[in-house]
Amino acid sequence: MDARQPKAMEDFTTKQGDAKENVTEDAELAKAIMSRQFHPSAISPETWEGYIFSDQEIRIKESTDLYGAVLWPSAMVLCYFLELNQDKYNLAHKNVIELGAGTGLVTIVSSLLGAKVTSTDLPDVLGNLQYNVTRNTKGRCKYIPLVMELTWGQNVAERFPRATHRFDYILAADVVYAHPYLNELMETFDYLCQDGTQILWAMRFRLDPENSFVDRFQQRFHLEELYNLPSLSIKLYRAWRKDQTEAVTEDEDEAEENEEEDKDDAQTEESADRKQRLAAWPPCFYCRMGKEVYSYAGHEIVIEEGLDSFAGMIWPGALALCHYLETHCDQLNLVDKAVLEIGAGTGLVSVVATLLGMSECESVCND
Ligand SMILES: C[S@@+](CC[C@H](N)C(=O)[O-])C[C@H]1O[C@@H](n2cnc3c(N)ncnc32)[C@H](O)[C@@H]1O
Repeated sequence: MDARQPKAMEDFTTKQGDAKENVTEDAELAKAIMSRQFHPSAISPETWEGYIFSDQEIRIKESTDLYGAVLWPSAMVLCYFLELNQDKYNLAHKNVIELGAGTGLVTIVSSLLGAKVTSTDLPDVLGNLQYNVTRNTKGRCKYIPLVMELTWGQNVAERFPRATHRFDYILAADVVYAHPYLNELMETFDYLCQDGTQILWAMRFRLDPENSFVDRFQQRFHLEELYNLPSLSIKLYRAWRKDQTEAVTEDEDEAEENEEEDKDDAQTEESADRKQRLAAWPPCFYCRMGKEVYSYAGHEIVIEEGLDSFAGMIWPGALALCHYLETHCDQLNLVDKAVLEIGAGTGLVSVVATLLGMSECESVCND
């Protein structure tokens, strides 16, 4: 630079240089991210889109009628970041929940990277989501992702009790846009984000309401910008609670007080014990040597599926029922109860009900 150049001119030139650098960075990063997508080379009876993440080819089936049925670029941005930053954000064996999972790419990539993922969305979207998740993770991941309904703001505490659902990461791609449930989404983030939880959220900016959501979000959470991609109108954020310890402690104290009002001391103690035992084993599934291993009620359950009949595999209804039994063990106390299961198939529900029906003493003796 010319030493005689006036200071204002120098600043202007530096700013222009920075802007140019940012544009190049954005263009290069966006190109690298979008290059992970490919399309079928031949016309096939089924329409799908291909992605390469974690050295695996991932095929995503989209349907055209719903928001959750097409893949949005924010999902690719988040997947790319997760793959490239495994040293800092290591998902192996971590409890992860995805909100608004759509066609499931983020869930699939997180599972390939070793996480125990709960993949959630609206009920109408779950069929296609489950299809993509199963097709791309079966036999490839240590932990099979669990696909569940989570409609923002609706019965979240009942479906995901804090004591048994402590997540290391909440993942979300393109969940903020002009829909009427932004407050419910905020409450859902707030409820699920506990002490130590990190939110990784890819956000596509389209309209003003999205900016104001970010402002409101910042009142509750610290926000760090990880990527800024103006060419895609996407930013990737990391967030965590502002009032981590205080908020959680307050909520837990309140829940404990209510519990104590309803139950006598002995019962409360047993229930807390039980919860603590279950909390150490959040529900998760993984494959081992052609068998499937499920984790419920503090035990590993090995299920061998046959290929020959309807009764030879685990159906999602069984997983939903097991999850319900486990998370509602206070209300639906199975200890010493007589239970009949009809159409037991591979027997997962019977096994879980039996484990939940054992008294503390039996359970400890059998461990
Ligand atoms: C724009 S799509 C993004 C899908 C996916 N994350 C991706 O990036 O490809 C928004 C997702 O949020 C889900 N969604 C919208 N409203 C919801 C609500 N009230 N509760 C739960 N999920 C909702 C949609 O079904 C859809 O899957």
